Amino acid sequence: MRIGLGLAALSAVCPSARAAYQGFNYGAFFTDNTPKMQADFEAEFKTAQNLVGAPGSGFTSARLYTMIQWGTPSTPISAIPAAIATNTTLLLGLWASAGDAGIASELAALSAAVTTYGKAFTDLVVGISVGSEDLYRSSPTGKAHSAGAGSYPAALVGYIERARDAIKSTGLAGVPVGHVDTWTEWVDPANQAVMDAVDWVGMDAYSYWQSLVPNGAERGRALFEDALARTRARVGGRPVWITETGFPVSGETSGEAVPSVENAKRFWDEVGCPLFGRENVWWYILRDAGRGRPVPSFGIVGEALGTTPVFDISCEAVEKEEESCDAA
Ligand SMILES: *[C@@H]1O[C@H](CO)[C@@H](O)[C@H](O)[C@H]1NC(C)=O
Repeated sequence: MRIGLGLAALSAVCPSARAAYQGFNYGAFFTDNTPKMQADFEAEFKTAQNLVGAPGSGFTSARLYTMIQWGTPSTPISAIPAAIATNTTLLLGLWASAGDAGIASELAALSAAVTTYGKAFTDLVVGISVGSEDLYRSSPTGKAHSAGAGSYPAALVGYIERARDAIKSTGLAGVPVGHVDTWTEWVDPANQAVMDAVDWVGMDAYSYWQSLVPNGAERGRALFEDALARTRARVGGRPVWITETGFPVSGETSGEAVPSVENAKRFWDEVGCPLFGRENVWWYILRDAGRGRPVPSFGIVGEALGTTPVFDISCEAVEKEEESCDAA
């Protein structure tokens, strides 16, 4: 299978050896809603760094959804000392769907983290996302799926400005500020104000959830590439970071997408492998089956958090494409 072709067409040139962040998303709590503590984050970050067969230099970056330790008002999340202890770079997230008070708490935790951890922390931060899928949740589709509280563009733009103000005379000055949302929101002209306010665009794209179009595993790559191309066409040259993508290893069928280890591996090989080392990618997800398994479950390691993933992540099938690209 000519795995690299579609992506090569999108990026137009063969990739150089430029640095790209490669990591996973990390929730603040386990499936049973208990908070992850520093030791839990450290165990996850170390597992990610030591995954058997990991492509490139491995998975050394962590995207977070909140600055706040789960269950506290505004204590900085313990993922931060865990990242410092394991030399894990951070794509920070401020939860932006809990109104003005919510964003104020996120910014308080951000400032407290800078004060408490200083340069050891700020040197690891590669970006700050103000929000995660807030526009999707407030969209008609999100509402129809009871996706929970969201935010609208005007509020998000205000939060982005507040985040920029909060970091401008700290060790985080110059860190690029963005927003993460589903690709369907980035291509919606109603959200242009958010696009105009960000330094980078975080795109979430899951063929699994696109149940209104043919979305069997064999369509995963085509649907992802379509989402990325349509997003890039809208963003006016801003970098697009792949903040979430993945395919469930178990769970219910969505349209024609059937969760299985085999299909998750196919998505990894056909979507992930061409991206790793070339684009900034935070895959969904290292482990979501902690203290209970969600439905669907996307974790590439099981509840036991071993370093051997449930499928071969080595990207060996794609290495050949890179060689032929280098030779061209
Ligand atoms: C941390 O990782 C970076 C690469 O991401 C590396 O350049 C640096 O030497 C590492 N620092 C330590 C203390 O291991």
